[in-house]
Amino acid sequence: MFNELRLGILGSGKGSNFLAMADAIREGTVPAQIAIVLSDVAGAGILSLARERNLPAEFIPPGRYRTKLDEESEPAFVRALQAAKVDLVVLAGFMRVLKGDFLRAFEGRIVNIHPSLLPSFPGLEAWKQAWDHGVKVTGCTVHFVDAGVDAGPIIGQQSVPVLDDDTPARLHQRIQMAEHELYPKCVAAIARGEMSVQGRRVVWK
Ligand code: GRF
Repeated sequence: MFNELRLGILGSGKGSNFLAMADAIREGTVPAQIAIVLSDVAGAGILSLARERNLPAEFIPPGRYRTKLDEESEPAFVRALQAAKVDLVVLAGFMRVLKGDFLRAFEGRIVNIHPSLLPSFPGLEAWKQAWDHGVKVTGCTVHFVDAGVDAGPIIGQQSVPVLDDDTPARLHQRIQMAEHELYPKCVAAIARGEMSVQGRRVVWK
C-alpha cells in the first residue's frame, strides 16, 4: 500500500493554514494525512479546528521562555511528533523558534510559511513591515527550516501586489489567501517527491 506522508502541524493561532491543508487533503490534492496537531497555546483556534475534524490535537505547555520552547517542552513536542510517526513537520503560525534538538530530530523535514517574500522582512508582522517600507509587491514564502529565523531553502513563493489604498490588515488578508494556495501546493510537491535540495536551492523536478 502507498504510504502517505504523515504531517505534524504546529500552530499558535487561528489555524487558517491548517484548515487550507486539511481541505486540500480531503479534496485529494495533497497526498498526505494529518497525524497530529500541536500547539503551545491552550486556547488556540488551530486546536479546536483540528478537534472538530476528529484529528488528534494536543496542547503542550511551552515552559518559561517567551520566544522558544524550554528544556522540558521541546523534547515533549519531539516525543509527541515521533509517537504520531510524523514524516514532515508543518509549521503553520507557530510563534516559537525551534532549537537544536528539535531541528536534529527532524532534520530537513520541517517546513514553514512566512508572510513575505523572503529574504525580505523576516520576523514578526512581515506584512506590516512590507507596508511600512512601501514596497509595491510582497507575498508569502514556504521554506525548509534551519537554525536561522525565517531562513532555510525556499520551496515556493507567491507574490501579492500592495495596492495604493491598502491597509496592513487588508494586505495581510490577501497574503493569507495566497498562503492558503501556496502551502498545500508545496506540501503536495514534497509528498510526491517532486523536489530536491541542492545546497541552498530547492529544485522542482
Ligand atoms: C500566517 O500568516 C503565517 O504566514 C505566519 O503565521 C500566520 C498563521 O496564520 N507564519 P494561521 O494561524 O494559519 O491563520
